[in-house]
Amino acid sequence: MRCIAESLPSILSAPPRGPPPVHLREFEARDLETIASIVEEALHERYEPSLYLSLSEPWPEGFLVAAEPSEHPAGFLLGVSQVEREGRVLMFAVHRNWRSQGIGAFLMDEFLRRAHARGLHRATLEVRVSNASAIRFYTRYGFSVIDLLRGYYSDGENGYQMARDLP
Ligand SMILES: CC(C)(COP(=O)(O)OP(=O)(O)OC[C@H]1O[C@@H](n2cnc3c(N)ncnc32)[C@H](O)[C@@H]1OP(=O)(O)O)[C@@H](O)C(=O)NCCC(=O)NCCS
Repeated sequence: MRCIAESLPSILSAPPRGPPPVHLREFEARDLETIASIVEEALHERYEPSLYLSLSEPWPEGFLVAAEPSEHPAGFLLGVSQVEREGRVLMFAVHRNWRSQGIGAFLMDEFLRRAHARGLHRATLEVRVSNASAIRFYTRYGFSVIDLLRGYYSDGENGYQMARDLP
């Protein structure tokens, strides 16, 4: 007897997911322009270039870039460690043309690995309460809501603070 799954036509099976067509590296000053444009489009914020440089200084390994073969950033995760033994995802975005291809997962996996290797015990982040897709993403990564941050964003929207242990 064959199990039902074996007899289904192969067209019904999910397409294989290959690795995303990017490589991970640390942030470099030449990434500033592209990262600023991703931040503007995805996070609706504009920051001085000097902010990225100063934030990356204490822990350069926490600022990860997913780069196309041309070296252009397709997405990035800016992690900082400002509280003892904690890592915080300060900014995280993938260019809209590159979403849902596993690049966000690639960045988050590496961030959590580096945070753990640095001896950090907890990872935290903030997210808009309306950002259902990001909340789903983070929940899959073991983050859970630990606080409601009223009026946290510049337009007055509430945020959730989410956290997970780094065992
Ligand atoms: C949140 C964000 C960074 C995730 O990046 P991403 O590269 O799209 O993430 P992934 O591709 O790893 O995962 C996204 C989804 O695509 C799916 N996916 C991943 N690879 C896939 C593939 N090859 N084929 C089909 N689906 C795939 C994942 O299962 C996931 O599904 P979900 O919708 O259930 O979560 C991105 O959506 C983004 O930049 N959003 C706007 C900015 C933002 O909200 N940032 C967070 C602020 S706190």
